Amino acid sequence: GAGGGMAGRKVLVTAGPTREAIDPVRYISNHSSGKMGYAIARTAAARGADVVLVTGPTELAPPPGVRVARVETAAEMMAAVLAEFDDCDVVVKAAAVADYRVQAPAGQKIKKRDDELALTLVKNPDILAELGRRKQGQLLVGFAAETEELVGHARDKLTRKNLDMIVANDVTLPGAGFGADTNIVKLLYPDGRVEEYGRTAKDELAGIILDKICVLLTNRH
Ligand code: PMT
Repeated sequence: GAGGGMAGRKVLVTAGPTREAIDPVRYISNHSSGKMGYAIARTAAARGADVVLVTGPTELAPPPGVRVARVETAAEMMAAVLAEFDDCDVVVKAAAVADYRVQAPAGQKIKKRDDELALTLVKNPDILAELGRRKQGQLLVGFAAETEELVGHARDKLTRKNLDMIVANDVTLPGAGFGADTNIVKLLYPDGRVEEYGRTAKDELAGIILDKICVLLTNRH
């Protein structure tokens, strides 16, 4: 409630990248470090929430007081998230989930033979869109990592995935997005409001995002 206390709230946070196997020694992934999602999980726990962090592979230490579920692939992240979703109050999806996986990962290491190698990729399920379909009172917060048309693409995701708020970051800006200790974001809401934040430490931004979530929770009840 007011003042940022989150005692009694169950908050599910996802963080980090997913990895999609090509063969037993190689994978497709992205540059997510997990810093943004871990900052949100750590801050929510510090404010008294019951926090579950579903995380792809990262180098980060698990935040104190947080229950951590480690996953590798988008399919594993989906299963872990769905297992926790029903009794959640809030879900924050900061993870960078691979949109595609290799259709048929090789059982053995692929040998270097031909000059070209083609991989067929198939679409992964969209975890957040699935939560948007299933939600029954859970507050759903997504992220949007964009390289162009930030607000347009983020608003489209907010609407299409049935979210209560989306955190839009232009990942081409220095000091924003993947790997950095800071981020530059716009918060978008279904009523059309947009709030902008210049370069801000991810820890501080985590507090701001949770403040906004608390306002939305309060206004709803
Ligand atoms: O981890 P850091 O290095 O700190 O970097 C932070 C970040 C850039 C990863 C983070 O700020 C961020 O933008 N996270 C979302 C990255 C992303 O995959 O965005 P997207 O626009 O592709 O996806 C939109 C939303 O749908 C996200 O909430 C994503 O978790 C979710 N999604 C996407 C695809 C999919 N198959 N399932 C999903 O749930």
